Amino acid sequence: MTSTQTIITTKDKQARIVPVKKLIGKLKVPGDKSICHRALIFSALAQGESRISNFSNNRDNGSTMEILTHLGAKFSRLEDSEHLVCQGVGEKGLTAPLDKRTVLNVGNSGTTMRLLCGLLASQPFSVTLDGDASIRRRPMARVVEPLLKMGAHIQGSNSAEKAGEIYPPLHLDGRSLTGIDYQSPIPSAQLKSALLLAGMYSQGETSITEDYKSRDHTEKMMQYLGLPLEIDGLTVRNRAFNPPFAARDFLVPGDISSAAFFIMAAVLVEGARVEICDISLNPTRTGFLEAMQEMGAGITIVNQRTVGGEEIGDIVVQYQGNLKGISIQAPRIPRLIDELPLLAVGAAFARGKTEIRGAAELRVKESDRISAMAQELSKMGAKVKELPDGMVIDGQGFLEGGSQIESHGDHRIAMAMAVAALNSKKGGILTDTDPIAVSFPGFFEQLNQMNFQVG
Ligand code: S3P
Repeated sequence: MTSTQTIITTKDKQARIVPVKKLIGKLKVPGDKSICHRALIFSALAQGESRISNFSNNRDNGSTMEILTHLGAKFSRLEDSEHLVCQGVGEKGLTAPLDKRTVLNVGNSGTTMRLLCGLLASQPFSVTLDGDASIRRRPMARVVEPLLKMGAHIQGSNSAEKAGEIYPPLHLDGRSLTGIDYQSPIPSAQLKSALLLAGMYSQGETSITEDYKSRDHTEKMMQYLGLPLEIDGLTVRNRAFNPPFAARDFLVPGDISSAAFFIMAAVLVEGARVEICDISLNPTRTGFLEAMQEMGAGITIVNQRTVGGEEIGDIVVQYQGNLKGISIQAPRIPRLIDELPLLAVGAAFARGKTEIRGAAELRVKESDRISAMAQELSKMGAKVKELPDGMVIDGQGFLEGGSQIESHGDHRIAMAMAVAALNSKKGGILTDTDPIAVSFPGFFEQLNQMNFQVG
């Protein structure tokens, strides 16, 4: 059954994707990117040595690690490179970069920018956080405004187009902060985590309330480390920690957002069977699995367990065909936000209408993901209508393919469209593979290692 061909051939940052059948394999994917960011931050602030196992070698986590290194933490990789050791500086041990002119570069990582903004607003030194062209278009008022209310001094760039919005670079003059009670205008784990990190260094209590629960890795990690934290429904509350917290080891589960590309491939490719092991099944992240099951996909979870406070398990996907369109509305968006581009791909291959609403946040991710997916899927022959806060896809059961695919500088668009191409009639050519390393550097290699037949 194994083909001597590859599904994806790359040259000069372009990739040719061939249509396939019978995709079969068992694999693991790199550690969860959200959990890795948090493990880096908390191990830097802890007293003593932490070991982070199954650390993901992606660009975004690299940005967080590099910035924390500028601030005094020490990271070293063990030989096999999936294990990282961190010497924490202790809760008051972060220091300004040695060269005061150093700009802390978050690269493409919104999580790095927003979480570190919360942490660094309270530290006794000044820093500047900046990133790539995509980061400079991403809205920061959501974190800056509540931090200003806590007493922070932060300056960013204002926008001529959108009154009141703030964009990077952000200049932070660290101050002592005071806790606030904050009703979050959007469900956002980045915002919630920024305030919880600021709350660790503030006088009094800080609380954040969301309309719908966003991913809760920060809360789980704080509890794992014994930091003060209360969860009351949709409200999370914390305060300064005393005494200092001791380092603990982290075992990072596989990233469900990376696994999702293989899950979708197996759902779509005729005769496929794929098993993905040791994946994070945190209930704030499993919306994609539920949506796929609702569409009619054959997905089973086995070997479920809890590691370091995080749920984990193996996902078995068996091709069943006959996908049907579904409706995805605001309450379930936070639990599948990063998988929406990929769900749009599934919707194009389903039969019937899929409506995605309440997802305006997609317009301010690494790219405008609504517009990017509408453009790329339409080029492949899908019927897609853009909405201000989502899209409607009229699934025809197949995609013609054969088009040039643009990544829009966005890792998730590149991988979602690669999956679309491998199940289309004519395949496709991805013109810029570079962004994929932002979250999943080995994506093509792992896909090529599967057993398959050229379709
Ligand atoms: C993330 C939270 C989500 C998600 C992002 C990672 C995190 O963003 O889209 O990829 O690690 O906290 P929001 O919190 O802004 O929704």
